[in-house]
Amino acid sequence: MHPTPLNVLALSGSLRQGSLNGRLLEAAAALAPEGMALQLCDGLRALPHFDEDLERETHGGPEPVRQLRAQVTAADALLLATPEYNQSFPGVLKNGLDWLSRPGPEEVLVGKPVALLGATPGRWGTRLAQAGLRQVLTATEALVLPAPAVFVPEAERLFDGSGRLQDTRTQEALRALLHALARWTRSVTAESSAAPGTRPSAARLPPAEAGSSDGDAGRPGAPPGVHARARTS
Ligand SMILES: Cc1cc2nc3c(=O)[nH]c(=O)nc-3n(C[C@H](O)[C@H](O)[C@H](O)COP(=O)(O)O)c2cc1C
Repeated sequence: MHPTPLNVLALSGSLRQGSLNGRLLEAAAALAPEGMALQLCDGLRALPHFDEDLERETHGGPEPVRQLRAQVTAADALLLATPEYNQSFPGVLKNGLDWLSRPGPEEVLVGKPVALLGATPGRWGTRLAQAGLRQVLTATEALVLPAPAVFVPEAERLFDGSGRLQDTRTQEALRALLHALARWTRSVTAESSAAPGTRPSAARLPPAEAGSSDGDAGRPGAPPGVHARARTS
């Protein structure tokens, strides 16, 4: 019997045309495993700056916020691609997460499985951006996939002139991430349906995907390259 298909909503923290992170998400959509539909969402672009007055006056947020909230609610999981801006993740992504983190008690990020990835032309592959993003998502009670994390340094050389991902190592890292996200989503969703009314926990790690670990990733002196890290040894 085939499991129920998973709907994954993919958001990029970059709004620009030709964004490396947008291209990475397009590649992920093309590599999604059987049983997963990955939809790219441009919903961060239309959001106003978060403002508690606006939130109150509009009873929870204006139309673009409501639309994004509805898309997140309908999705089984999120895939967030982040650039690194000044050693953190971009304001547009933080703005979106602030809107989505409220209003209670029906916050749409609570218990939502989320996987992270990020690309940069620089050497360190959005490590600091992803660390910051992970911290914020923890505050929202989203369930961030513990591993692998996909860091894509020196990303400009990985795409062809049409913006298609050509690098096989990065393609493998994306496949491993999406498989792990599927397992993670099914695992935490089963946990919450087994105990209705409780918030699922991030206590269980999915088994590491073969070929997706890179124990040297993140160590000073480790060479640049795609790092899909399952754990730090
Ligand atoms: C305001 C700003 C700050 C940046 N800071 C960093 C940084 O701290 N680390 C880094 O690796 N790249 C940094 N960059 C370069 C981005 O990684 C690069 O512009 C990247 O292509 C942005 O992602 P995108 O291609 O998806 O738009 C910065 C770029 C901007 C515009």
